[in-house]
Amino acid sequence: MITKLKTSLAFTKNLFVTGAIYETSKKAEIEICKYIPKGDHKIIIEFGMGYGNITREILKNIAPTSKVYAFEVKKSFCEHVRKNINDDRLIIVNDGAENIKNHVKENVDGVIGSIPFSFFSKEKGNKIIQDAYDKLVNNAYYSQVLYTKFNFKKFQKIFINHCTIKAIKNIPTEYIYHCRKVQE
Ligand SMILES: C[S@@+](CC[C@H](N)C(=O)[O-])C[C@H]1O[C@@H](n2cnc3c(N)ncnc32)[C@H](O)[C@@H]1O
Repeated sequence: MITKLKTSLAFTKNLFVTGAIYETSKKAEIEICKYIPKGDHKIIIEFGMGYGNITREILKNIAPTSKVYAFEVKKSFCEHVRKNINDDRLIIVNDGAENIKNHVKENVDGVIGSIPFSFFSKEKGNKIIQDAYDKLVNNAYYSQVLYTKFNFKKFQKIFINHCTIKAIKNIPTEYIYHCRKVQE
């Protein structure tokens, strides 16, 4: 409870960067990880690690030989996770999701995002989705949690309509976009 309160205070203090007051709910954490590949040697990307709640769920779902690159712009959040999650599979990147191509050279088997698209310019949002799409292998998913459906169209455009949306009824409602890269 105290930890949740501390996280909430840190999020609120940085509202224009976090875009949220609370961490994503447990239900949403589980739903967003639905399509994470469980096989060996997979590369997963997380956008917007925060205090690492979804990161933990990702690590629970992947094989011992897989890796997670977790992007987070707030240095203090990166330091918090570095102290609290001790897992060799986790690579913390203190940089924006828009710079994925500078940090990840491998092909990517899954992207999990909780970054606040509503706070980004159209250009920045589109670049993040397009670069993630380019890095993904065929049939892999980009799953994103947001508090609104407004950004769904941007994803639909780039993932050529291979997107679904799942609402998790909380206050506020959380929407999970699941987008699959499909190349003929
Ligand atoms: C809504 S919080 C989500 C945190 C946590 N993953 C969760 O689900 O509760 C969004 C996070 O994205 C981070 N963030 C904002 N812009 C970002 C960007 N361009 N690239 C990477 N992280 C970003 C914020 O600092 C914040 O930690």
